[in-house]
Amino acid sequence: MTDRENYRREPMGAAERSFDAFDELNDPRPEETGFDRVVEDSVSRRGFLGGAVAVGTGAFLTGTAALTIADARAAAGRLAFKAVAAGTADTVAVPEGYRWHIVVSWGDPLWSGGKAFDHATRGTGASQEMAFGDNTDGMALFQSGARSILAVNNEYTNRSIMYGARASKKPENADDVRKGKAAHGVSVMEVAQSGDKWQVVTDSPFNRRITADTPMEITGPAAGHDLLKTKADPTGTRSLGTWNNCGNGRTPWGTYLTCEENFNGYFSSSDKALALSPGFKRYGIRHKDWGYAWATADERFDIAKHPNEPNRAGYVVEIDPLDPKSTPKKRTALGRMKHENAELVVAANGRIVVYMGDDERGEYLYRYVSDGVYAAGGGNDGLLDRGTLYAARFNADGTGEWLALTPQTTGMASRAEICIHTRMAASAVKATTMDRPEWVAANPHKAEAYCALTNNKNRGKKPNAGGDPTPVGGPNPRAGNKYGQIVRWRPANGDHTAKAFSWDLYVLAGNPAVHKDDRKGSKNVDPGNFFNSPDGLAFDSRGLLWIQTDGNYSNEGDFAGMGNNQMLIGDPATGEIKRFLVGPKECEITGITFSGDRRTVFVGVQHPGEKGDSHWPGGGDSVPRSAVIAIERDDGKPIG
Ligand code: FEO
Ligand code: CA
Ligand code: CA
Ligand code: CA
Repeated sequence: MTDRENYRREPMGAAERSFDAFDELNDPRPEETGFDRVVEDSVSRRGFLGGAVAVGTGAFLTGTAALTIADARAAAGRLAFKAVAAGTADTVAVPEGYRWHIVVSWGDPLWSGGKAFDHATRGTGASQEMAFGDNTDGMALFQSGARSILAVNNEYTNRSIMYGARASKKPENADDVRKGKAAHGVSVMEVAQSGDKWQVVTDSPFNRRITADTPMEITGPAAGHDLLKTKADPTGTRSLGTWNNCGNGRTPWGTYLTCEENFNGYFSSSDKALALSPGFKRYGIRHKDWGYAWATADERFDIAKHPNEPNRAGYVVEIDPLDPKSTPKKRTALGRMKHENAELVVAANGRIVVYMGDDERGEYLYRYVSDGVYAAGGGNDGLLDRGTLYAARFNADGTGEWLALTPQTTGMASRAEICIHTRMAASAVKATTMDRPEWVAANPHKAEAYCALTNNKNRGKKPNAGGDPTPVGGPNPRAGNKYGQIVRWRPANGDHTAKAFSWDLYVLAGNPAVHKDDRKGSKNVDPGNFFNSPDGLAFDSRGLLWIQTDGNYSNEGDFAGMGNNQMLIGDPATGEIKRFLVGPKECEITGITFSGDRRTVFVGVQHPGEKGDSHWPGGGDSVPRSAVIAIERDDGKPIG
């Protein structure tokens, strides 16, 4: 979810309160007093900003630090497009020689029995159930023969927009809740090129809506655990729905992974005196929800009546996009957290490794390693059920290690409990508290992975929700981090299952037009490419890193000149970063996938006009609508 930055106004009261505002309201934490900042560790600010500084085994500055002449030659001209200028227009800007068009927008029907989006009412429960969901996020394109199937997350809803036809701008009745639940989840749809545009294939047998009410199977170590049993499901293996689906992943066996992030914000308590368990507190489950009002129409969201229901959310869910009748599977082995995305790699030894961020201030970066090995052609179903979770520890000297989360290392009773209360397990092993880990992306050409650490106003000031300190240092080098950074690690011996790794920062975002200290960012940031709050990350087949932002678009003060949220392309070999796209007003750019021939890149535009100042894409007085766009070159050649 994106409406969480502390600068965001709260024009609609509680219904539109930001993540930070809710968090602070529900769980005020003490100012930092009891722990020291690690200000002068080996990653000195001077080292970051001044040039190639190698300390210990880690080269702490990117760009030229890791560059050989051969790399440079191979990399020359890999970002062969004219950079897009930062901007504040209410449209999408792409480089000269490129064009874009809308593929699907919130409320577009996937079946001919549905209704076209109604700007006056903004739809009903029934129309939404037949239509593309709201606030597009992670996505992936699959092939079935010559047919293309796009699976897209619909993360959340802006209540002030979805219920904007009501004076209160809030859900007021059961149908409003039905509409809200149906706007969440995942939209699976066939897409095809018609003329020069990609469009949804209405009534395709592949089309499917997965919502907050779709039956799910719970698998892995936590399946059947007492903490997952409810009145409706005494087995603890069957739940309903997925929501707040943020980033994604995909498996080599052709399935889609959707990641449940801020699942907590949908629960509330009819008993205002209900004592909150440590688990509820750590995961932000409180007496009040975030304005969705689901418990008013569906009592499973009432924690006073169904206290185990929240334990059944916060997972990575595997979906077979080519089988519309398949039951999505909640893979508890991948842990329970505010999952951002799930970047899967097949390690050299054949094991499956899944990298995952837990996006909250001061939470952790995780890795899952399967027990079994991947076999092309089948027999892979247990790979996401049997394996070990790890949390990352980053040392100040550029080394790091993965800390296994087991009953022995954590003191927790069972693997099931570790998979349910994963945050507590990571706290127990003293992993490194991070600046809000968002997407992880692994380089397809090299054993290395990148994670966007989007920002963290609490760095060096407040502990995380579990009370763990958040000292300044290592990959989180700035107090009250406003701009974010991208950390990169290389596993020992090129083996993604190795315990040890080395790390550096690929980029420290900042504003060199405003600041001269560490807030100006690293050397590969300049007024031509500056940005804040990196979030979505993905590699293309050439090994270029696409960076999407979900940041402050005020274009003022610390953010002067940065304009609207954007998408950039980085070259890992040279450190060069170039702006490829600027989004419409008040949007976030998130979610990316490529056509097989790389002639089209599909990109998500989330929450345009979240504060009321956009009419994208329709213009005029139209309701702003999140949408998936397709970008192509005018000459039809591959993108990049
Ligand atoms: Fe859904 Fe952390 O972004
Ligand atoms: Ca988002
Ligand atoms: Ca974000
Ligand atoms: Ca995100």
